Amino acid sequence: MSEQQHGNHEDEHKGSKRREMSRRQFLSYTLGGAGAFMAAGATIPMIRFAVDPLLQPKNEGAFVKVIEEEKVTEEPTEVKFTIHQVDGWYESDPKLTAWIAKDEDGTIYALSPVCKHLGCTVNWNTNPEFPEEFFCPCHGAHYTRDGQTLAVAPAPLDEFEVKRENGFVYLGPVRPNTRV
Ligand code: FES
Repeated sequence: MSEQQHGNHEDEHKGSKRREMSRRQFLSYTLGGAGAFMAAGATIPMIRFAVDPLLQPKNEGAFVKVIEEEKVTEEPTEVKFTIHQVDGWYESDPKLTAWIAKDEDGTIYALSPVCKHLGCTVNWNTNPEFPEEFFCPCHGAHYTRDGQTLAVAPAPLDEFEVKRENGFVYLGPVRPNTRV
């Protein structure tokens, strides 16, 4: 073998060593990167799962369409509707009731049926002794059509926030009575 041939062979050998090193580095980077990616893939959902409900805005301000505007009269009418509630990790769809009516000015309002005495359910105009009033059958509390307390209960009926849009009435969160 001539000297030149020997030198070429050595160069090739060095070259393949260099290639081998770079292949090894490539593999370690790739596998390391894939491992990190998989670890992140496993960890991020866990962190999201733990933190997400805390970041979600509670849908307390959500309004629900309940009735056409033109169907609301001065006579309180019972409407039933469902809201979607998210409280941390707990989601539920409670069914709610409201007594909805229009006053002389055309303002639509909606009262909560929850009696302010001990939480029974009031009804409109069901007791002949108290006509045109909300009456609670549990201990006899009764209220005006605006929810003003007349006996037994210490406070007026709560009311729902009301929004009117495109001919429909939407109800939002319950708040203390603003009408009395
Ligand atoms: S709960 Fe309604 S009167 Fe007591």
